[in-house]
Amino acid sequence: MSNTVQKNIDYKKYVVSSNLQYFKPHATKIEKTFAEEISSSLNNDSKSIHPKFFYDKKGSDLFEKICSLPEYYPTRTEITILKKLQDDLDSYIDESFRLVELGSGTSVKTRLILDIFTKLQNTTEYFPIDISEILTESSEQLLKDYSGLHITGIIDTYEGGLQFLKNFDDKKNLIIFLGSSFGNFSPNDGYKFLQKINSTMKSGDLFLIGLDLVKDKQILESAYTDSQDVTAEFNLNVLSRINDELDADFYLKNFAHHAIYNEEEQRIEMYLKSLVNQSVIISKSNLLLNLEKDELIHTEYSYKYKLSQIHELLTSTGFEIKHTWLDDNQYFSLTLVSKN
Ligand code: AVI
Repeated sequence: MSNTVQKNIDYKKYVVSSNLQYFKPHATKIEKTFAEEISSSLNNDSKSIHPKFFYDKKGSDLFEKICSLPEYYPTRTEITILKKLQDDLDSYIDESFRLVELGSGTSVKTRLILDIFTKLQNTTEYFPIDISEILTESSEQLLKDYSGLHITGIIDTYEGGLQFLKNFDDKKNLIIFLGSSFGNFSPNDGYKFLQKINSTMKSGDLFLIGLDLVKDKQILESAYTDSQDVTAEFNLNVLSRINDELDADFYLKNFAHHAIYNEEEQRIEMYLKSLVNQSVIISKSNLLLNLEKDELIHTEYSYKYKLSQIHELLTSTGFEIKHTWLDDNQYFSLTLVSKN
């Protein structure tokens, strides 16, 4: 592996082979540690754990399992829509585009889009942006399956990676953000995130976003409380992670998974419910946590949108809608936009 510094001076370039390279920032910004974040979010009247902490190795594996549960409709529905989109996307992209993905591209969904690119192009550039180094494994697998693919991984936050891309070259980008991950942002953070994406796009670039739609409460609630309790295990796993990494003594049997759909706010709300009055020590956060029976620790929101709200959100953050694809049940949406 060679290290060279180039054009983007704040990033280090790692060349693995002729068709695989990575960029990583030299020094990461000063961010709060896991221990500090947990200390401040649990040392409150309304207690919470940020959903980004779900995804350690075990949590990521459990999320993969969630994606193929019968009750969890988003993944398979988005795949159905991507198959429809395969027939249409070639009227928007051509030889001059590269594919940029927010996320590491481990999934079948990335491949459905890569299929379109590799049909249209002799060589296809794919730039996954992900904070996690998991990116390196998924890239090597993709290169085995697609000849003519050139991968440039950017190991950074989405915002950092997009800024890097803006300064990188003048090639046109199709940026994809799939899986309704956007739904896990608060409305305010989501709005700012879309503005940020818009500001890093060049004219001619395109952005494809997957968003989950408002639907029957029962369908939504069973997607987040499945009959095999995989979602419960995923939710509770964050406590095991805190036990392991922050030297805490959460006793998992004293907590229950709790997920409800808040119709007014149009969001699934996920919590860990304390089943007894209890105290928990989180050594590395310097915290003695007291919980009452039935007290809730908030772990995730998953917002659902109406089509009119998606259009309003995207146009108000500076985008022009090109096309929205839906499944027959109108459970999920994929919207392609350009910079206004
Ligand atoms: C990652 N994200 C889009 C999932 C969702 O549906 O909000 C996370 C998830 N939480 C429970 N099940 C799935």
